[in-house]
Amino acid sequence: MGCCQYFTPTEKGADTFTVDMPRLTFGRGCLAELGERVKARGVRRAAVITDRFIAGSEHMARARRSLDAAGVDYGVFDEIRIEPSDTSVMDATRFLEDGDFDGLISLGGGSVMDTAKAAMVYARYPATFSTYFAPPIGDGAAVPGPVLPHIACPTTSGTGSEMTGLSVIRLMDHDTKFVLASRYILPDEALVDPACTDTLPARVVASTGFDLLSHAIECYTARAYTHWDKIASPLARPMIQGANPWSDLHAREALRIADAYLVRGVADAADHEARDSLMWAATLAGMAFGNCGTHLPHAFSYGVTHLMHDVVTKDYPVPSPFVPHGISVILTSPSVFRFTAAGAPERHLEAAACLGADTREASNADAGEVVAARIVELMRATELPNGLQAVGFAGGDAEALADSAMRQRRAIGNAPRETNRDDAVGIFSGAMSYW
Ligand SMILES: [Fe+2]
Repeated sequence: MGCCQYFTPTEKGADTFTVDMPRLTFGRGCLAELGERVKARGVRRAAVITDRFIAGSEHMARARRSLDAAGVDYGVFDEIRIEPSDTSVMDATRFLEDGDFDGLISLGGGSVMDTAKAAMVYARYPATFSTYFAPPIGDGAAVPGPVLPHIACPTTSGTGSEMTGLSVIRLMDHDTKFVLASRYILPDEALVDPACTDTLPARVVASTGFDLLSHAIECYTARAYTHWDKIASPLARPMIQGANPWSDLHAREALRIADAYLVRGVADAADHEARDSLMWAATLAGMAFGNCGTHLPHAFSYGVTHLMHDVVTKDYPVPSPFVPHGISVILTSPSVFRFTAAGAPERHLEAAACLGADTREASNADAGEVVAARIVELMRATELPNGLQAVGFAGGDAEALADSAMRQRRAIGNAPRETNRDDAVGIFSGAMSYW
């Protein structure tokens, strides 16, 4: 199916989509440009947001050297935790309020960038925490206006957060993650240096690699933007606007790269070709989902995060219970795509083909199985857990997982077919083990 057919206009559907992205600099060593780039934005004193591990790393030393050389003053906040919560956002907010900053640098993975984005909102526009988060938990209020100039420097190859106006934060009262979405939190610049991934352990490259892979498949198989309602005001058009020709372009290429390099990048930290390529794929997938939105695998991963118990993952210095984001996403993905394929079979087949599956003999009825089988093949090749049972769940948990996940309304609505609670129970039941 060509893009034109998938995006055939519908009577009440949107006929327009909008693309937003930061200025992007990509390349091995480009973190050395940080100081000049911050200075060129007129920033006198920058807040550097990072985590404890990165604060002591060579990446941070390179950032400091660059800022010092450019004569930019800065203050460092290094208390970001993996799986950021409302509490950690408010700690970062206080740091911003007290520091007399006129610009912000985030250096780290998705947790660092997402916390920085949300903290800038609460520092500039104080409100109770749920105000800007999506219903049903939050009030869904629009972020009122611009925040500090932000240069985002990712150190992992998966999140794509440097390219999006989305922040995912765990709300402790509700014990799950919710999304803050606004064009005002889109970074002004992304400085993407693949050298930052040279020191990542294999399990981190695997988790983040499957995160980018799922971003790409979810975008390619998302509901078409023409099947979302037309928006009355152009400025109210959401970033989670459905699949569109822009997100297609980047999702396809990200999948081709994941096919070629995911297994290599996990296996060998010295394989610069593979790790640099995965960093580029993460950036591309960010360009896709920042202008499309993900769907069920991400929505359902928040149920996994909510209800996980007594589990730790090798290579992550995080106490139990903890399942890395990319793992929590990919463990339900094969089961999800077996379900969603009926809503857009050609798109599932095309995504599978980009990911390296042989689809020449496949019919539309095979689409879900073909894409699921290719994902499972990659999971096995990178020694991922075998389904949700391998991270502490059992079949009896499917109902509770579905109840938790069904709260993610917008993402669930971005799937290519209607999904009710019973469907969600079936998907979770089918995700317990794959081989
Ligand atoms: Fe993700």
